[in-house]
Amino acid sequence: MTIQDIEKVQAELDALQCSNQKEVEEARVRFLGKKGIVTALFEEFRELDKDGKKEFGRPINTLKQAAQAKIDELKETVGQVQDASAPKVDLSMPGDDMDLGSRHPVSIVRQEIVQIFRKFGYDVAEGPEIEDDYHVFEALNFPPNHPARDMQDTFFVSSGHPNPLLLRTHTSSVQVRTMEKENVPIRVVCPGRVFRNEAISARAHCIFHQIEGLYVDEGVTFADLKQSILLFAREMFGPQTEIRLRPSYFPFTEPSAEVDVSCNICHGKGCNICKGTGWLEIMGCGMVDPNVLEASGIDSSKYSGFAFGMGLERIAMLKWRVNDLRHYFENDMRFLKEFEASIEV
Ligand code: PHE
Repeated sequence: MTIQDIEKVQAELDALQCSNQKEVEEARVRFLGKKGIVTALFEEFRELDKDGKKEFGRPINTLKQAAQAKIDELKETVGQVQDASAPKVDLSMPGDDMDLGSRHPVSIVRQEIVQIFRKFGYDVAEGPEIEDDYHVFEALNFPPNHPARDMQDTFFVSSGHPNPLLLRTHTSSVQVRTMEKENVPIRVVCPGRVFRNEAISARAHCIFHQIEGLYVDEGVTFADLKQSILLFAREMFGPQTEIRLRPSYFPFTEPSAEVDVSCNICHGKGCNICKGTGWLEIMGCGMVDPNVLEASGIDSSKYSGFAFGMGLERIAMLKWRVNDLRHYFENDMRFLKEFEASIEV
C-alpha cells in the first residue's frame, strides 16, 4: 500500500457525482460495501506491520470518513430516480399567480346602502325579475294606458294578455309583494336588477340596478321621510352632506319629490360633476299613495308610509366619478381592477 493508493481513491471520491438515489447507492457499495474500494484498502492495511500501520492509520481513516460523509451528503441532496413514464413535475417550482377577484362597484355600493338601512331597522326583500303588469304597474296606481307607463319603456315577455309578463322596470314591484305578504309595520329595502327599453349610451342602459325602500306604519309623515333620507345621505356621502327636495311626480306616491345631495366634490361651489349647481340628484321619493296601500290590502285610513328609490350605478358614478355607465357592464378587467382595494377578505 502506498499513500498514492489512498490519494487516488480520495480524488475519485472528490470527483464523484450522482444524479439520483440509485447512483448514490451504487457509489456507496463501490466505496464502502463489503467488496468496496475503501474496504479493500482496510484489508490491505490489516496485513501491514507496525510501522506501516503507523504510517497509513490516519490517512486511511480520514479517507473512510470522507467517503461516508460524501455518501451521506449525496443521500440528502440528490433526487429520486425518475420514472420515465411519470409526468415531469418539479414540485419546487413556484406556483402560478392566482388573480384574486374583486367586488363589482355596483355590489360594493349595494352592500353599503343595505348596511346603512339595516342599521335603521330595515329588512331586505327580493322578488322576481320577470314580473307581471299588475305588480309593476297596476298595483302601483298606473291605470291601463296611463301616460306614466311611458316613463319606463318596458320589455314585454308576453302580450295580448290582460296581465302580461314583463321584465320589471323598477323594484317597486317587490314593495307591492311585501305589502301583500307582511303585516304592518313594514320596513324594507329592495335591491335588484331592473330593465328598461332604452338606447345604450354613457348615461342610459337597458339593464341597471336599484334599491328601493318602503316604510309603512301608523302616523308616518313626510317629516319622517325627509329625516330618514337626510340620515342616509350623511352616512353615505359624509356628515356635512345636505339634501334638498324638489317636487316631482310618480303615480304611486303623493306628494312626490326628487332628492338632491350637496356636491361632495365642490361643497356647493359648483364643479363639472354637479354641472355648476352644487347639487347632485340621487333618488326619487314620496308618501305612498293611499290607492297603493289599499290595493295591497292595507287600511289607508289607519296607516301611511313613504317610499324611495335610487339607481345604484348612479350612486357608484358619483362615488367614484365614473363618467360612462357602460363601464359597469363590459367587464373590462382594467376597470374592475380599479376596485380591488375594496375587497373584504
Ligand atoms: N320607482 C321609481 C323609479 O324607478 C323610484 C321611486 C321609488 C320613486 C319610490 C318614488 C318612490 O323611478
